[in-house]
Amino acid sequence: MGGKDLFSQWQSTIEMDPIADTLNNAERKILLSLKGEEDVEDIARRLGYGELVEAMSPISWLSRKGLVEIKERVEYAYSLTERGEKVLKRGLPEAQALDLVKGGIAITEFRDELGKDASIAIGWLKNEGCEIEGGKFIVDEAKICDLRERVSQELEALGNPDEGAYELLGGRGLVRKRAKSQRRVALTEMGERLVKELGKEREKKRREEINQLTPEIIKSGEWRKLKFRSYDVKAHVPTPRMGKRHLLTLLIDQVRDAFLKMGFTEIRGDYVVSSFWDMDVLFIPQDHPARDLQDTFYVDRSFDLDSELLHKVKRIHEDGGDTGSDGWGYSWSEEEAKKALLRTHTTIETIRYLSNHPKGPVKIFSVDKIFRKEAIDSKHLPEFNQIEGVVMEKHADFRELLGVFKQFYSYMGFEVRFRPSYFPYTEPSLEIQIQKDGEWIELGGSGIFRPEVLAPFGIKENVLAWGLGLERLGMIVYDLKDIRGLYTNDVDELQSFPLRR
Ligand code: PHE
Repeated sequence: MGGKDLFSQWQSTIEMDPIADTLNNAERKILLSLKGEEDVEDIARRLGYGELVEAMSPISWLSRKGLVEIKERVEYAYSLTERGEKVLKRGLPEAQALDLVKGGIAITEFRDELGKDASIAIGWLKNEGCEIEGGKFIVDEAKICDLRERVSQELEALGNPDEGAYELLGGRGLVRKRAKSQRRVALTEMGERLVKELGKEREKKRREEINQLTPEIIKSGEWRKLKFRSYDVKAHVPTPRMGKRHLLTLLIDQVRDAFLKMGFTEIRGDYVVSSFWDMDVLFIPQDHPARDLQDTFYVDRSFDLDSELLHKVKRIHEDGGDTGSDGWGYSWSEEEAKKALLRTHTTIETIRYLSNHPKGPVKIFSVDKIFRKEAIDSKHLPEFNQIEGVVMEKHADFRELLGVFKQFYSYMGFEVRFRPSYFPYTEPSLEIQIQKDGEWIELGGSGIFRPEVLAPFGIKENVLAWGLGLERLGMIVYDLKDIRGLYTNDVDELQSFPLRR
């Protein structure tokens, strides 16, 4: 005897009456209406349910009672992203590039024609083996033809987004793929038997289950006699689309919470500041590469500087002043220091705060925007956030500094390790790393402020300081490969992120 026979033998011994008793109206209605295998959406539509969930709940119950079987299948839907739609309309930038190359265009002209896409296009062409000589592309008809063919195939794929198109163009963010689960429902053997029996005794009176407990039922004492439906916590229901905070806001809140719990106070500051405060006060020499135009956004204005402080800082840069340091040994320029820029780190807020509170203890932090002239790619943004902090107190030491990070990152759910590093304003300096999938990722810098930084303000105590990347941390927390994912405004994508505790 096969297993199935045994099973159906056993099934046929099950009494139908008690099961029939457990059915409520909706379950009965669905059970009796089922014909063969049917999609849940079709059932809902056929029976006039306004929402799928109204049908799904009784169907789940029927399945738990062994009367129907729910077969789940995941299907994928493909569509063009907003960028994909644009490209479909205007053509792929590669096609335009190839047309230009065909005419043996000069690189400079090529750049003018393609504007901001030019660098990417040149990279692509070189990668594909197109050579440049004497500032011009070398025309290789056969190769251009081949590439043209490939590009037009890609464009064709874009016109008909499917798995193939997704594999080809999904990585470029032109095609998106979404999973949609399909549920089909069919009567089980037991279900079929029950349907037959119910048919026979349609007219028989049955005891109904109560869905809802009302104040009346309680007051009248009727509840004693009634039969209540139990909850099915495993029932299929759609995820409600409620409003929630943006993932970056959630992360910032969590960071803030961590530092507040550790007894820190939050500060904020301006975006446009003087080079003097952003760099010179922090003993960053005026020929430091971070001050280059390519690295920093300068603003067309200048700042007046406090002349007493200016002279102290000038001396420290030039010969170390009274700090015992030799300084940098160059001639310091006031002009350079007056320049305005978009702050390149929030360490400026730290030093400004200390300048106003030269007597400890101080425990402050900030989570705020900074600006660096970076080309946007999967790991860089020109505008991002830094988690800054400082501790100034009598017994503050290196071990306390390490302790702050251990505590902070353990609150965020990570382990940390430290590596030696260098900053012009700290000694010792260290780099903080956390682990992800067995790999150590650099998250920021830290150290103890040098006397050259503290002397102008008469600060004698030890000052521990740090500046950590918020977006880097976000990529790890949310498991993102591309930093731009943190700034997405695609509502579907945002909904898919879990609410973190
Ligand atoms: N300002 C440094 C940065 O932007 C970080 C840092 C802050 C390092 C304070 C040491 C002390 O990377």
